[in-house]
Amino acid sequence: MKHFLDINKTEVADLRGMIDSAKAMKNARNGRPKGALDDDLPLKDHMVALIFEKPSTRTRVSFDVGVRQMGGQTMVLSGSELQLGHGETVADTAKVLSRYVDLIMIRTFEEATLLEMAENATVPVINGLTNRTHPCQIMADILTFEERNGPIAGKKVVWSGDGNNVFASFAHAAGQFGFDLTFTGPQTLDPEAVFIEEARAKGVKVEIERDPVKAVQGADLVVTDTWVSMHDAVSTRERRHNQLRPYQVNEELMRHAADDALFMHCLPAHRNEEATDAVMDGPASVIFDEAENRLHAQKAVMKWCLS
Ligand code: CP
Ligand code: NVA
Repeated sequence: MKHFLDINKTEVADLRGMIDSAKAMKNARNGRPKGALDDDLPLKDHMVALIFEKPSTRTRVSFDVGVRQMGGQTMVLSGSELQLGHGETVADTAKVLSRYVDLIMIRTFEEATLLEMAENATVPVINGLTNRTHPCQIMADILTFEERNGPIAGKKVVWSGDGNNVFASFAHAAGQFGFDLTFTGPQTLDPEAVFIEEARAKGVKVEIERDPVKAVQGADLVVTDTWVSMHDAVSTRERRHNQLRPYQVNEELMRHAADDALFMHCLPAHRNEEATDAVMDGPASVIFDEAENRLHAQKAVMKWCLS
């Protein structure tokens, strides 16, 4: 079963194949209306369940549009509407859904839910974000970087802020795509050590640097994300803000990056908190390309899952 659960669990050749296939599918659409079908219809006669236990704009719309462009049909389900949200087990849900649909995408809280879904489903399962990782986002980000500035291998990526689920998938990608990664943020919000160690074991340089100015020296890509994720307790907001304020991505910080450095944010953003308007709407920013590329990257992921 070809599940897409995480970037570190997917073979390098398959990941590269998906990025290439995403580029090709994007180019092939060549300015067609967004509702137009692709020439080949890899999801023709396929039914896809999109399950959301957390809110979403990009993941929800891009998966739905992507399936339809590839000739398939979708069903968007919220966790609370399913019996899953009322005590039915993940395993039973997975087995039942597998009788109706050909592919399951799930956005959930605990990683254990995603893994249990994958273990029990008899159709491929895609990770649409958990508290721990967000692989589809980083596939879109790799595509975005490469279409602007060429191969990401050997480049320096700097993450400024919270060591969260999106950072974790960047760390997975560093090991698989071969780029260096620096984390800058407060020690209290460091990423899990396993993400850093695993990437290092694959031969890439992964550093933790508390000084954001030192961290971004020569960066080819600067990335940040919200200071309070969907799974973080609201009661931690003030403490997080106080600790993360020095790591805001603003024009002064961007000046220390490489001249052609890009800025990324997976969105949704809290403007003028983790990043200023000047950076988000500035010349280095590729935030809306990232959002668009969710569509193309996920189409490639789905095609791979069903191939
Ligand atoms: N970046 C991202 O996953 O956005 P949504 O929460 O809107 O899906
Ligand atoms: N880190 C954020 C990403 C949202 C797409 C969250 O988990 O809420």
